[in-house]
Amino acid sequence: MAIIKRATVCFTFRIMLLLLFCVSLSCLPFYPSAKRNDRPIIGVLAQEVYSPKPNQTAYIAASYVKFLESAGARVVPVMINQTLEEYKTLFNSINGILYPGGGVSIISSGYQRAAKIFYELAIEANKRGDYFPVWGTCLGFEQLAVLTSGKTVLSSTNTSGVSLPLDFTNETKDSRMFKGFPAELMEDLANEPLTENSHKWSLAVLTLNTNEELKKFYKVLSTNTDGKTEFVSTMEAYDYPIYGSQWHPEKNAFEWGRPYIPHSPSAVKTTFYMAEFFVNEARKNFHRFESEDEESKALIYNYNPVYSGPKSAFEQIYFF
Ligand SMILES: *[C@@H]1O[C@H](CO)[C@@H](O)[C@H](O)[C@H]1NC(C)=O
Ligand SMILES: *[C@@H]1O[C@H](CO)[C@@H](O)[C@H](O)[C@H]1NC(C)=O
Ligand SMILES: *[C@@H]1O[C@H](CO)[C@@H](O)[C@H](O)[C@H]1NC(C)=O
Ligand SMILES: *[C@@H]1O[C@H](CO)[C@@H](O)[C@H](O)[C@H]1NC(C)=O
Repeated sequence: MAIIKRATVCFTFRIMLLLLFCVSLSCLPFYPSAKRNDRPIIGVLAQEVYSPKPNQTAYIAASYVKFLESAGARVVPVMINQTLEEYKTLFNSINGILYPGGGVSIISSGYQRAAKIFYELAIEANKRGDYFPVWGTCLGFEQLAVLTSGKTVLSSTNTSGVSLPLDFTNETKDSRMFKGFPAELMEDLANEPLTENSHKWSLAVLTLNTNEELKKFYKVLSTNTDGKTEFVSTMEAYDYPIYGSQWHPEKNAFEWGRPYIPHSPSAVKTTFYMAEFFVNEARKNFHRFESEDEESKALIYNYNPVYSGPKSAFEQIYFF
């Protein structure tokens, strides 16, 4: 009797083990992927070349690509001058988009047109519960401000070529963006000039506070001043995964051509934590290409960056 009982117990235990093993086997590959996309692909918007040459009419600075790759994303270039249909197809294939810095018009350019289309698609998608993150750096930040307000809301500032500490606002600690940053790095960001600014235009804090559209849309996470005008340096939308930094998180680790780019350990950590934050946002999106073939044809790996020499603001550039 006792022997049989023990045998049964053992048998049951073995079945339970077996069951547990099966459950974990079947769950592991599928369970996380239901909640997180560990193969995020992020679009980086191209822009017009200032003095175009044959085969060099649009470009992306390679530092934006490296920035996203460093945190576990792959990159697809978003070309200018595509049709609305092409942009819609691409939107449904990628998991987020980054609008880089640069020097084109944010009122009328191929960059502006594509940025507006993706911004509107992102707003619609997010309203439907399709989480699609958008990031704007420098010119991209300014583009977001103009798109959200529908106005040219920028003020001229003396900020072309200076690194600054961030003046964090009361809202920073409740932000999505900085929540995961180590306390030590937040200290350094507040006290050391770790953020590189290369812009002649800024979104003045006063402008944001007096513009209904901007004020209700964006939470201001940090500000800075050129000594005259206080401007918004980091922001995130309250209700959408839309983010802007007037400064350049990608430069600290990847650009060397200007003396005011900081490269200290904390400066380089800033690059990584910003990238990690945005790539994690893209991991919440489940768009994908129609086929593996479509995906591989779209990836930035199909292009080779060019070393642009010691005078350029960028070490390497992708030309299209
Ligand atoms: C431009 O690219 C095409 C196709 O890759 C190539 O055949 C052509 O030689 C290039 N032209 C120049 C001026 O580099
Ligand atoms: C985009 O279109 C504009 C206007 O037609 C044209 O001037 C420009 O060369 C095009 N650029 C690219 C990269 O296709
Ligand atoms: C602009 O700022 C720099 C310091 O970043 C300063 O040296 C320069 O005098 C300022 N220029 C003007 C016109 O205020
Ligand atoms: C932020 O907090 C400080 C200290 O609590 C307070 O003096 C200040 O008015 C607050 N600023 C805003 C914009 O709420």
